[in-house]
Amino acid sequence: MSSPGLNAAQILEIEGRHTSGLYGKQPLIFVRGQGAVLWDIDGNAYLDCTSGHGVANLGHAHPKVAAAIAEQASRLITLFETFYNDQRAALMEKITALMPGMERVFFCNSGSEAVEAAIKFARLSTGRSGIVAMMRAFHGRTFGALSATFNKRYRQGFEPLVPGFSHVPFNNIEALEKAVTDETAAVLLEVVQGEGGVYVADPAYVQAARRLCDERRSLLIIDEVQTGFGRTGKMFAVQHTGITPDLLCAAKSLAGGLPMGAVLIGPAVGQLPVGAHASTFGGNPLACAAALAALQVIEEEDLPAQAAARGAYLMDKLRQIDSPLIREVRGVGLMVGIELKQKVTPYLKALQERHILALNAGMTVIRLLPPLVITYEQTDHLVANLAEVLALDLKADTTSIGTDAP
Ligand SMILES: Cc1ncc(COP(=O)(O)O)c(C=O)c1O
Repeated sequence: MSSPGLNAAQILEIEGRHTSGLYGKQPLIFVRGQGAVLWDIDGNAYLDCTSGHGVANLGHAHPKVAAAIAEQASRLITLFETFYNDQRAALMEKITALMPGMERVFFCNSGSEAVEAAIKFARLSTGRSGIVAMMRAFHGRTFGALSATFNKRYRQGFEPLVPGFSHVPFNNIEALEKAVTDETAAVLLEVVQGEGGVYVADPAYVQAARRLCDERRSLLIIDEVQTGFGRTGKMFAVQHTGITPDLLCAAKSLAGGLPMGAVLIGPAVGQLPVGAHASTFGGNPLACAAALAALQVIEEEDLPAQAAARGAYLMDKLRQIDSPLIREVRGVGLMVGIELKQKVTPYLKALQERHILALNAGMTVIRLLPPLVITYEQTDHLVANLAEVLALDLKADTTSIGTDAP
């Protein structure tokens, strides 16, 4: 495939002219990736600790995923789910086997859509409308998902949102006990809050949520859009807690970089009537082939174990940085937050100048979501640069960097 033949100035000018304006854009043009490295249009390498907001768990342009996409693209790209397909059948079998007890799956195209579908399934199945979500939660931007998202900044200007949603403090069992009633269709939570600041749920909290949902006949929805597919050192973060949810939302890295979402559906969710929900692109053979290849790579390369080992190494090194700016280093696997005592944007900018891409999570947390294949050498390079950057006096720098939630 030929490139569109645009030079750097043309690309910046055209995107600048036609952008929706919704993204805080950086003047960097990336045209190629491999593993944890992205190359700009001039051939400069950058260490990517964002993975495209948690998508590229396998690293960029994994050859097995690329080959599966190329092969399937020349055979069959699209097929609505009323018809059967070999790739989809194989993926259904593979993905449901990842979470024993959850035998059904709904395919869609993004994280928001997966959350949206899970909320609808919970209401349909229970005949109740209440959704109890968490303070600091991020579940996406469509109306249902946005109603479950806590941060006012994302909600402002879009009210009225969907009725029936409430938010309780994360990791507070007592508050959850009060909030879950016989009107509650579902409790919705992230096992590690990503956008909210990289906060890890206590296993006891998730277990209590499971117990409460069972007692009050509500459903438990776990949002694994950011935590799924090895990121936290297990295939799914909920596997750190020993419980099984009723609905599990996944997306981001599921199809190795191609857009895809999924909801795994457990036995407590009643039968879903034909036509109650659907997606034109959901479960298309191209995305299914990519996801099958991605899941095979995750298994072959044992990426959850790699994430656990590399994440522990990274967090250990980060905790050795002697900087009065660091309030806390927290996380699990390769989902890591470094909370500073001041705004992080000048430090993200300084890292970017050193060709390292990282994310924020709120105003004061640097969030690292590198591909799970990041090498130990690259990790050392990241930590050394972070330590140097944190030693700079950047308090006066108030410029912001466009790394907001997708
Ligand atoms: C936990 C969680 N849920 C849902 C979403 C929304 O996903 P998408 O941007 O694919 O709609 C995100 C995106 O960052 C997320 O982190």
